[in-house]
Amino acid sequence: MIVNFAKAATNRLILFNENLCFNLHTLQYILLKITCMKQMYSVAAILLLFAQSTFSQQNKILSASNHKVKLVFSLNESGIPHYAVSFDEKLVVKPSRLGFTLNGGITLDSNFAIVKSDTKIVDETWKPVLGEVSTIRNQYSKLTVQLKQQSANGLLLNIVFKIYEEGVGFRYEFPLQPKFQFFVVASEATEFNLAGDHTTFWIPGDFDSNEYLYTTSKLSEVNSWKFPIISGGTVQQNIPDQYAVQTPLMMKTDDGLYINIHEAALINYPSMQLHLNRNNFQLSTNLVPDALGNKAYLRTPAHTPWRTIIVSDKAVDILASKMILNLNEPSVIKNTAWIKPMKFMGVWWEMQTGQSSWNYTDKIDELSSSGTMMPNGHHGANTANVKRYIDFASANGIKGLLVEGWNKGWEEWTGAWKEENFDYVTPYPDFDVAGIAAYAKKKGVQMIMHNETGGSAVNYDRNLDTAFRFMNKYGYTAVKTGYVGNIMPKGEHHDGQWMINHYIRVAQKGVQYKVMIDMHEPVRPTGLSRTYPNFLTSEAGRGNEWNAFSDGSPAEHETILPFTRLTGGPMDYTPGIFKLKNYAKGAPLRQMHTTLAKQLALYVTMYSPLQMAADLPEHYAAHPDAFQFIKDVPVDWDDTKIIEAEPGDYITIARKEKGTANWFIGAITDEQSRSAAVSLSFLQKGKNYVATIYADAANADWKDNPEAYSIQQFIVNNTSTLQLNLAKGGGAAISLTTASAANLKLIKTYQ
Ligand code: NOJ
Ligand code: CA
Repeated sequence: MIVNFAKAATNRLILFNENLCFNLHTLQYILLKITCMKQMYSVAAILLLFAQSTFSQQNKILSASNHKVKLVFSLNESGIPHYAVSFDEKLVVKPSRLGFTLNGGITLDSNFAIVKSDTKIVDETWKPVLGEVSTIRNQYSKLTVQLKQQSANGLLLNIVFKIYEEGVGFRYEFPLQPKFQFFVVASEATEFNLAGDHTTFWIPGDFDSNEYLYTTSKLSEVNSWKFPIISGGTVQQNIPDQYAVQTPLMMKTDDGLYINIHEAALINYPSMQLHLNRNNFQLSTNLVPDALGNKAYLRTPAHTPWRTIIVSDKAVDILASKMILNLNEPSVIKNTAWIKPMKFMGVWWEMQTGQSSWNYTDKIDELSSSGTMMPNGHHGANTANVKRYIDFASANGIKGLLVEGWNKGWEEWTGAWKEENFDYVTPYPDFDVAGIAAYAKKKGVQMIMHNETGGSAVNYDRNLDTAFRFMNKYGYTAVKTGYVGNIMPKGEHHDGQWMINHYIRVAQKGVQYKVMIDMHEPVRPTGLSRTYPNFLTSEAGRGNEWNAFSDGSPAEHETILPFTRLTGGPMDYTPGIFKLKNYAKGAPLRQMHTTLAKQLALYVTMYSPLQMAADLPEHYAAHPDAFQFIKDVPVDWDDTKIIEAEPGDYITIARKEKGTANWFIGAITDEQSRSAAVSLSFLQKGKNYVATIYADAANADWKDNPEAYSIQQFIVNNTSTLQLNLAKGGGAAISLTTASAANLKLIKTYQ
């Protein structure tokens, strides 16, 4: 019998490997051995669970741990692989099945024997091109289990576990083998058997959309066919399973654990949704099918994405985790100098709020006497209007400008299965591509391309080179893509394997043409910005835009998103709306569920290296003092401190600007007002800073007085503690810059 303990320098990283078939005697021995070690109590608990349940003396049990997180792998007497996870002696995932069913009736979920296993400890650091921190530590213990089926074909399957300080990632590998090349996954057997009826922050498992409001409920109350109705009509709803939920799935246990289940490095495989058994809190894997109902077409050697379980007893650790990024492969781009974060404005909110249109004509079947399209008179992307935005962006130091509705096709862009809806290079007659490119260049503004596909990804694929060459020709260094509508090829889903590969093709095309990518309506992110650092951000969730064309999102929405949608990667949320009531044409009573100060705070709490100043120039011009924060706030960071957070309630984050000494703080709350004491102990010792505090006015609240704010300046240092008062639906945004001698004389010290 081999028992192998390896301790890392921290003395807290432990690998434990028992890779022999053992009998009851050896199980007792291991339990004894383990229970002697304080850190391993919960492994003992899991082993006991395995031993007491369906597991006989023929069990094969392996385990590994990292700080408080423990992983146990086992084969039962039928050769069925299971795993379990605990955190600080508490069971997070009870013994749960692993494996697959393949087309052709091939089961790859039982009758296995362990051929070999090995363990490894890795502790390395790497630098993201853009990010919330400048250096990321990737420290894990790795357990690889090589399995062989005890059948004529003797199929091989490896399962690789990486155990982090804040959770576990695991994936399946299908090694190259003689009798097993091409295969089709019919279903994945992976389960996450939860230990109780946790509170969960969930959206339905929709094959085509993530743009839902989150429901907070017990697992036993989840019902994906009964959820806050989404309106607006642009989103495909496709929820075949009443009890399926989307990942990242955030949960909180009654005994104070925060658990987040998601996946990392989703490439060449469908997205994973989770079917919930409400009686025993078992989550099982629902892979998004293709047009034929198949899940994944693979060829050995192949592997799945990582299945991830992030866990901590502190909510802030969930937001600080870099596990999902760490589980992705390093950058495929060597020279990354062209990848630049930026803030941008857009000829956009005016369309969202119904004041202008994407389409040029309202009479697509009629031409004027001279044979031209007849303009509707309110087309947003006209040259004069675009130049107005360029002037404003240039005057205010906002780097980028997005223009939507510039290209022909918006009259019939979605909803009618029209495959060739856009060619991505033909402008409307009132959009002077070359003139605008030259004007933007003169004014120092970076144009951002817009390629809406209306769901016709097949058409975009055909035109990709043409579209990206066009961007290169006219100096567009970034593109916002979009997938509103049913996917073509017909029958495919936004989250199926075909589309997953499409998104990667677009990212790769961006690498080839040096273009940065922002995707709307793709699958939710899984950390791929590590591998494709030009894939800056995506929407893949319910963005601020829903406040333009629907009754909007409740005040708690932005306190949930960082725990759910954003654990996979940055979100193009489009913050910065200043006119918070009566902004939507034809809907005078519509209003946002937020104060103006909260809109500022979102630039810090909602990470994205491409960040929009989403409102109209005239609304910013009406509040130049508050707009100063948007001008100042950076989009790339050296360091991030999650100061306090609770999903559904509040978030306070401080971030240090990349390459400077400046810090920025964002604090937001839900529909409840809130007092927060924010210690500035993270500031450099002995240094004075000017804190500019953009706060809700004393009489502000999201409903009756959302645009009331105050701006105050104080001298602070690392011993200061700021007392912030957030209104209902409110927030606070703070910039902290080095205090000059003059500042010290003129500005009072914070008391
Ligand atoms: C939905 C996107 O989220 C939005 O930003 C865009 O304006 C429209 N589609 C049109 O492409
Ligand atoms: Ca959208």
